[in-house]
Amino acid sequence: MSRSATVLIARPLPAACEARLDALFSTRRPPGDGPHPLPELLARAEGCDGLLVTLTEKLDRAALAALPAGVRVIATMSVGFDHIDVEAARTRGIAVTNTPGVLTEATADLTLLLMLGAARRAKEAAALIAEDRWGPWSPTGLLGLDLGGRRLGILGLGRIGAAVARRARAFGMEIHYHGRRRAPPEIEADARYHPRLEDLLAVSDVLSLNAASTDATRGIINARTLALLPKGAILVNSARGDLVDDDALIEALQGGRLFAAGLDVFRGEPRIDARYRELPNVYALPHIGSATLETRTAMGMCAIDNLDAVLNRDGIALNPVT
Ligand code: GLV
Repeated sequence: MSRSATVLIARPLPAACEARLDALFSTRRPPGDGPHPLPELLARAEGCDGLLVTLTEKLDRAALAALPAGVRVIATMSVGFDHIDVEAARTRGIAVTNTPGVLTEATADLTLLLMLGAARRAKEAAALIAEDRWGPWSPTGLLGLDLGGRRLGILGLGRIGAAVARRARAFGMEIHYHGRRRAPPEIEADARYHPRLEDLLAVSDVLSLNAASTDATRGIINARTLALLPKGAILVNSARGDLVDDDALIEALQGGRLFAAGLDVFRGEPRIDARYRELPNVYALPHIGSATLETRTAMGMCAIDNLDAVLNRDGIALNPVT
């Protein structure tokens, strides 16, 4: 009988995924929840055929070079893969796979939570309860903004952006978007395409970042682009923190140029710029876009499907990234 493939599982997954991993592979797990220092993980990868990682494992060129020769596939349990040097993996003949599709709806739900939290001043309101400062109901207290009737600008009308648009339509928002390419008619629907980012910004009462982190998008929200938003706009980010220049955003929030921001992702997370904590108009969450039991289980299963395809079947990844 041929030996079963060996997989290193960088972080514990939902129980159903763990059970399936044990059924399909010979498994290795570092102790505890992690994340584990990279050198420790790399040492444990000796003799492994595949790795199941998450966005906390930063597999840069040096890490890829240090991987044992037997590793044939890295499956990341995330749709984003900016934490992996895909080019370096390709050079070494290692397939990299991600988990597109299965986290679309949960992430879009969370994006609406960010919009509502920012527009309705949820941070200030929740603090009244948490700090026992709730006074009498006031006709003018904690006035936020309606989403209905406002223009939503979506940067990146991919799967998640399109799911955000579907939800926002139900809130009565008018949809605009920018991306490298115009979306097909069934995705675009009534949304208006702006070939130039600047033109999208000019009409975005609410701007939602739904683009991957790439050389083209890193720092795309900066002092120059923020200045193009209508005064009193709202920014929400459920994509990646490094799309945003923190100094510029914080200045725009402090100075009242932006009404509020809803942020689920941060540059350098989990250590974030402390000023975000102080600002009353920042509704911040700790990167929980896909954090439902159903969705995280589906993401884990998708990563396992890819490992299974490469290591146990025909060697062809189901969701290769390039
Ligand atoms: C989460 O941020 C992901 O990329 O899946």
